[in-house]
Amino acid sequence: VTAQSQSGDVRHSYLDRLECGRCSASCDSRVRQGVCACGSPLLARYDLDLAAKQVTPDEIAQRPPSLWRYHEILPVLSPDAVVSFGEGMTPLIPLPRLGEKLGIRNLQMKDEGLLPTGTFKARGAAVGVSKAKELGVRRIAMSTNGNAGAAWATYAARANLGALIVMPVGAPAITRAECAIAGSRLYLVDGLISDAGAIVAEAVARDGYFDVSTLKEPYRLEGKKTMGLELFEQLGWRVPDVIFYPTGGGVGLIGIHKALKECQALGWIGPKLPRLVAVQSTGCAPIVKAWEEHAETSQPWTDARTIAFGITVPKALGDFLILQALNDTAGCAVAVDDESILDAQQGLARMEGAFICPEGAACFAAAARLRRTGWLGPDDEVVVFNTGTGLKYPATVDVQVPVLDKGAAVPARKRA
Ligand SMILES: Cc1ncc(COP(=O)(O)O)c(C=O)c1O
Ligand SMILES: [Zn+2]
Repeated sequence: VTAQSQSGDVRHSYLDRLECGRCSASCDSRVRQGVCACGSPLLARYDLDLAAKQVTPDEIAQRPPSLWRYHEILPVLSPDAVVSFGEGMTPLIPLPRLGEKLGIRNLQMKDEGLLPTGTFKARGAAVGVSKAKELGVRRIAMSTNGNAGAAWATYAARANLGALIVMPVGAPAITRAECAIAGSRLYLVDGLISDAGAIVAEAVARDGYFDVSTLKEPYRLEGKKTMGLELFEQLGWRVPDVIFYPTGGGVGLIGIHKALKECQALGWIGPKLPRLVAVQSTGCAPIVKAWEEHAETSQPWTDARTIAFGITVPKALGDFLILQALNDTAGCAVAVDDESILDAQQGLARMEGAFICPEGAACFAAAARLRRTGWLGPDDEVVVFNTGTGLKYPATVDVQVPVLDKGAAVPARKRA
C-alpha cells in the first residue's frame, strides 16, 4: 500500500498560500499576485506536513530526471499546465585537478550550463511561465541582464504567451538573438537593469503586462529552488559544507536557502546547514558591502560594471532575504575582481575542460580567496554553481590565433 492510496487527498502540488518575506502578510495563491502591499517579495508556502505524507525521496528517485520530479513542492497545480523542455537534473561534476591546485580536496561543480537556453534561468522560466499560464496570464514583461530574458522569451513562446523584454545594451549579445527569434518585443536600454526595470514598470502599468522581473512575482524563485533540491538529492539527501553562488538579484541563493528549509521541514535532510557564500564582482558588490557592514539591506551601487554581466545588479529587491540566508547559514559574501574572474574561467577550461560563464568563474575565484584566508578548510566539501555555459560569452575569451597562408606548415613543436 503506497502512501498515496492511504489518503484521498492526492495533489500534484501542496501549494497553500503566499507569504510576504518581510511583513509575513498572507496572500491568496489561487489568483495572480505580484509583490506584497508593503512592496516586498511574496514567497510560496506549501502544506509540507501533508506533502511529507504523500511523497518520499524513494518515490522521487523513480521519476524522470527533470525538475518537475519535485512537483509536490512546486506551485503548478495541474500537470497539464507544465511548459517544459525537460529542464533539470544538471550534473554534479568532481573537479580533482582544480581542487588539488586550490587545496580543496572535495570540490564539485553543479553545471547549469547544460540547461535549455544555456543558463540556470531556464528553471525559473519553466516554473514561472507554467504558473503564469495556469493563472490565465496572456502577456509577460521583464527587465533582465539578458539570460533571464532569453529563457523567459523562449518558454513564453512555447506557452504561446506574449513577452516584452527590456535589457541593457551591455547584456550578452546572444541573448538579444534568443529573444528576437522567439518573437518577443525586445528593447535595449543604454543603462543598467535598474533602468530597464523602470521602463518595464511603466509598460506594465499602462498595457496590462504581468511583471515577471526579479522577485516581482513569487514563482520564478520556486523554479530556482530546484537547484538546491537536486543538489541535495544528488548527494544522497545530504548537504555539502559550503555552497558558492554568483549573486545578482539573489533569486538563486534565496531559492537554495528556501529548498534547505523545506527539505528540513519535510524530513528529507538533517539539521546541518551548508554555509552559503554570495559571490559578487568588485565592480558591483552591494551585498558584500552590506554584509561587511552588518546591515539588513543594501544601498544602491553606483557605476556598476563587471565582465560578469549577470551579477551587475546595483540594488536587489530581495537583498534582505539574501543577507538573512547568509546569516542563517553562517555563510559570507565575497567580491572578486574581473581579472581574477577571467583567470578562473581560463583555469577551469585548461584544468578541467569546462568552458564556464564569468559569473560561475567568479565563484571559483572566490573559493580560491577563501581557501587562502582559511575561511575554507582543506577538508570542506565544496559545491560551486556554474550558472551558465561559457558559449554564451564568446567575447570573454581573448583569442589570438595566427592565420596561415595556404600551403604553409605550422611551426615545429618546441621540445621540452
Ligand atoms: C549567468 C548568471 N549567473 C548568475 C546570475 C545572478 O542571478 P540571481 O538573480 O539568482 O542572483 C545571473 C543573472 O542574470 C546570470 O545570468
Ligand atoms: Zn509585506
